[in-house]
Amino acid sequence: MKRLQDRVAVVTGAGSGIGAAMARRFGAAGMKVVVSDVDLQAAQATADALAASGVEACAVRTDVADAAQVEALADAAYARYGAVHLLCNNAGVVPSGRHRHVWEIPLEDWQWSHGVNAMGLVHGIRAFVPRMLAGGDEGHVVTTASIAGLISSAGSVAYSAAKHEAVRVTEALYAGLLERQAPIGVTLLCPGLVNTRIYESERNRPPGLLPDGGAAAEAPELAAVAGELYRTAVSPDDVAQQVLQAVLDSRFYVLTSDAFDHAVRERCEAVLARRNPHFESVFSLVRRDQRQREESER
Ligand SMILES: NC(=O)c1ccc[n+]([C@@H]2O[C@H](COP(=O)([O-])OP(=O)(O)OC[C@H]3O[C@@H](n4cnc5c(N)ncnc54)[C@H](O)[C@@H]3O)[C@@H](O)[C@H]2O)c1
Repeated sequence: MKRLQDRVAVVTGAGSGIGAAMARRFGAAGMKVVVSDVDLQAAQATADALAASGVEACAVRTDVADAAQVEALADAAYARYGAVHLLCNNAGVVPSGRHRHVWEIPLEDWQWSHGVNAMGLVHGIRAFVPRMLAGGDEGHVVTTASIAGLISSAGSVAYSAAKHEAVRVTEALYAGLLERQAPIGVTLLCPGLVNTRIYESERNRPPGLLPDGGAAAEAPELAAVAGELYRTAVSPDDVAQQVLQAVLDSRFYVLTSDAFDHAVRERCEAVLARRNPHFESVFSLVRRDQRQREESER
């Protein structure tokens, strides 16, 4: 997508973190922004801040896990601005208790994570892409997946499995739009650690998806360092700048850190060599990301 000025962006999960930063970045580039979030107050705060800096913006409450609400978001965006050029399917959640094994995770965690992280993306594509194609303008779709969608380990599996699905769906979207020769680009954003409120995702869990006994506590080893890990991570504004550049350059893969490259490579090489893989723990992977950042800052 070459021209952003006066065009229209829709960003889900834009009340906080990476979504709010993308809303600000695309607003600063001259776009009108539909700021969507399941937390209406947070979406309104982002939209108000944009409006205060002269950007045309509005807030819409949407739970992306609900197909009808995402259709209603598309209806609202098209009713207000007549077109959508940039869709950022960004909303996401991480159920707490990342250390638990696949057989220990309650159904509610699978349902919540899959509903938001995977089906939220599918709902966004189904509600917007046919309308974007019919509009005939150039456009772009961004998926916020995760580096967790490209690698494997024992931990954080309800989240990571949904992000693997998001990667697969986004690759199919990219391939399908190319087959159609549509003027719509696609970017698959796979961040490493970013300084946002993702560690506090439980704030958005619907009460109906709370397992018996409540949300799991984190392992003490992770809980002790989580605050510091996220505080010292890459800023969401840095990530939003990388996304803006990828949209302008029609770039598909955006990995915000190279600290996980070895894990991506190890998985692919094990598959191709037909040998058993070596998977590092999530904890060891994120510590490696942190160490690498500290070294590059020195
Ligand atoms: N922060 C990281 O380290 C990191 C790393 C890789 C990927 N990601 C991904 O980045 C995306 C944005 O997360 P973030 O890090 O900015 O976290 P964040 O918690 O700061 O922001 C997420 C936003 O999504 C909203 N949200 C939650 N459930 C929703 C739902 N059902 N419908 C609509 N909105 C919903 C929240 O209210 C919040 O405003 C997520 O998809 C996340 O998985 C984050």
